[in-house]
Amino acid sequence: MGAVSLSGQTRTEREVRVRAPGKVNLSLRVGAREPDGYHPLATVFQAVSLYEDVVARPSDEMTLTVSGQQAERVPTDETNLALRAARLLAVHTGVQAGVHLHLHKGVPVAGGMAGGSADAAAALVACDALWRTGVSREELTDLAAELGSDVPFPLTGHTAVGTGRGHLLTAAMVRGEYHWAFAVRDEGLSTALVFATFDELISGGTRLDPDADRALMQALRAGDAPALGRALHNDLQHAALELAPSLAEPLAVAEDAGALGVLVSGSGPTVAALARSRQHALVIAAAMTAAGVADDVATAVGPVPGARIVPAGTAG
Ligand code: C5P
Repeated sequence: MGAVSLSGQTRTEREVRVRAPGKVNLSLRVGAREPDGYHPLATVFQAVSLYEDVVARPSDEMTLTVSGQQAERVPTDETNLALRAARLLAVHTGVQAGVHLHLHKGVPVAGGMAGGSADAAAALVACDALWRTGVSREELTDLAAELGSDVPFPLTGHTAVGTGRGHLLTAAMVRGEYHWAFAVRDEGLSTALVFATFDELISGGTRLDPDADRALMQALRAGDAPALGRALHNDLQHAALELAPSLAEPLAVAEDAGALGVLVSGSGPTVAALARSRQHALVIAAAMTAAGVADDVATAVGPVPGARIVPAGTAG
């Protein structure tokens, strides 16, 4: 039993649970590296039903524990993005309190699906509620962007166009739902290294064409999964394949299994295959398992909402 506070609530009752989604980039277009080291992006994110669950409990310190898929690969020291998110919110709002964060991972670690960013987004929402800071959604989004280019999107979820470093978001019009199969690898890829390899492969960089994803946006508006499959695009795929040539195998197996489109997710190494249906996603995942081209497989549906508080008693 926890200590009873003045309001009569127990400490355990005051825990806050937040669920935040992973993402796949339906399109990822990368411009030339800028003097600050970052690349301008034109991307379309879709939030998918692989989730990070974060529980925030009152504490005198800032501490973190992790469970779930590949949990042993997640740092629990102050470099963890979720702890950095909690500290940033405390400093920004002048809150003196600590927090204990527990992360339960459902998104592949260092997989190009922004699992760490989802943790940070969930930690911001959870600590905001726990500390009752009263910051606006806009302020939370600004803090998210300070933490990393991919952190604002899991706050928002659904499907969104990202510009700037990928952090400036505009909601996209989408009809229907899309079914995905993912090939997951045990060994992650460093985002910074993938961008550096992209620079080597494309010396001088590419010019971002604002109309490049017209067919993709139209497919989303129409709910046309085959057209979306044809329009999937990732400028970083070549660099990811250069660093991890064996990624060609899950790409080929998913294609052979009739995927509507296949691509490396974000900076990789997760491979995402768009399926015709939930059943077809399971078939593709089974084909990737049978061929031995993934350390793990997962299926998911998108779009799904962004980071949300889970009412007590409903969390899995
Ligand atoms: O913003 P974040 O910390 O997630 O980015 C990790 C690394 O990826 C950066 O340090 C940078 O090298 C690279 N990156 C980039 N251009 C972007 C986003 C990330 O070069 N738009």
